[in-house]
Amino acid sequence: MNSLFRKKSIHKITQDAKTGQGDSELHTLHKVLSVKDLTFFGIAAIIGGGTFSAIGNACFSGGPAVILLYIMCAVACGFTAMCYAEFASRVPVSGSAYTYAYVSFGELFAWIIGWALIMEYSIGNIYIAFSWSGYFTNLLESFHVHLPAWLTINYKSAHAAFIENKPGEGYLAWQNAPMMGSLKIIFDMPAVVINILITYLVYRGTKESKNFSNLMVWIKLLIIVLVIGVGFFYIDINNWTPFMPNGFSGVMGGVSAVFFAYIGFDAVSTLAEESRNPQRDLPKGMIYSLLICTVVFILLALIITGMVSYQLLGVTDPLAEIFAIKGVKWMLFIVSIAAVVAMTSVLLVFQMGQPRIWMTMSRDGLMPKKFSTIHPKYKTPSFATIITGLVVGLPIFFTDENFVLDFTSIGTLFAFVLVCGGVLLLSPQSEAELAERKTNGKFKIPYINSKYIFPGIVIASLITIQLFFPNYFTSILDFSEGKITNHVSLLVFYGLCMVMAILSFLKNLSLIPLLGLICCCYLLTGMSYSNWLWFGSWLLIGLIVYFLYSRKHSKLQH
Ligand code: ALA
Repeated sequence: MNSLFRKKSIHKITQDAKTGQGDSELHTLHKVLSVKDLTFFGIAAIIGGGTFSAIGNACFSGGPAVILLYIMCAVACGFTAMCYAEFASRVPVSGSAYTYAYVSFGELFAWIIGWALIMEYSIGNIYIAFSWSGYFTNLLESFHVHLPAWLTINYKSAHAAFIENKPGEGYLAWQNAPMMGSLKIIFDMPAVVINILITYLVYRGTKESKNFSNLMVWIKLLIIVLVIGVGFFYIDINNWTPFMPNGFSGVMGGVSAVFFAYIGFDAVSTLAEESRNPQRDLPKGMIYSLLICTVVFILLALIITGMVSYQLLGVTDPLAEIFAIKGVKWMLFIVSIAAVVAMTSVLLVFQMGQPRIWMTMSRDGLMPKKFSTIHPKYKTPSFATIITGLVVGLPIFFTDENFVLDFTSIGTLFAFVLVCGGVLLLSPQSEAELAERKTNGKFKIPYINSKYIFPGIVIASLITIQLFFPNYFTSILDFSEGKITNHVSLLVFYGLCMVMAILSFLKNLSLIPLLGLICCCYLLTGMSYSNWLWFGSWLLIGLIVYFLYSRKHSKLQH
């Protein structure tokens, strides 16, 4: 039983990374990234498919009140970023939440997180590749280049459109697709091609990728500022009423989409071994990028829900749609370019993150040794990079956007919960260690004792809800109303709040990671039954792999 929770010491992890576990000096990664580069990587990873595509459905579901969800997700991600930062400052090696779980929860949880992170990085990239393809096709159209419909949509969506008899691109693709035997050839070609290009770029090396990424971040920030600036003149404040047309459940209906938009700040932590001074710079990079993007999202949500009625926003290219409705043709072209650029940089960062996590897992023996091979010339984890390309590329042929969006968000939220929980479990450092961190300007999460504050927040929230929404608690106890999963997850959530309130009183827990944990758990209550089912199955497969392979090959086993 104990061996399931066997932990790696922070000292050992840092030593292993330094020596590349016995490999020669040649086989370690280039240390080239500064705070600015890391912040840019954060922004490169954050502003992408969520900002240009998924925001549409979130606004459609929640109306202008979707900004509340953006604020809630920003708060949850802000606390989580501080937890990531604390870990990054203590464990400055690649591997992200996976490595952090290894030192706090032990091997089994580390494996589970590593497994869940595949959902964030690889599955997330599938959604972005699809959205990229949508805007790229728009761009080609503006140059009068028309790809056939069966080469610009995924098989599943085309099939669904045909079954539902829904006119449009999907139906057209199904009707006109060429046949190979009895199979229709329908696939999203631009999504496949961009994945191949990005895989190649990441394979070739960090320095080239860094310059490319920085350029793209500048372009997308400038164009987003332009969208906000131009959009401002088209705001009609009547569009902001009703503020919450579909109630709070409508707002929460957008949780996967809004949360997806924030994912990415954590990818910075996978670049620890390529940073010049990871303990000081990684936390700054994460927090700065998150702050900048939060401001961008809130302004953008206000602008688009102010420009047109939320009811018109249920499309996959909402930023193009608002300007199309207002007849601002020149902005359509600019927005499409910005979207393509933005999404390319997200693809790049995630495609760099995944192999680095696998590389770390392989060094620990949990993945085959091949995954930690470093290319002798390009100094990149070459084999893991190619496998990432395949893991992203193959499902493009048989899955669709909505599925991968939900799957990514639930997996990432789950990883965030474990990271915040991990910080709560970290052992306190000695006076000497704390002094060393202070002298060297390394990040430290501020300790605020939650003893009275957290139970106070829980009690005050429960009283406020009961006073302002007297039927709320009776309604979540009423299981005849449908949406059973939401009711069950809310009950589990309130139960967790009570337990944590008691624990914080007894154990003087640190307030910031505790709030991070609770905020992420709250966002998880917005996930649907099918999300939980898929996620549960994914975890189950992961556990089987762990017990059949990883546990036996773990370095801690020998
Ligand atoms: N936040 C990233 C995006 O929106 C995942 O594309």
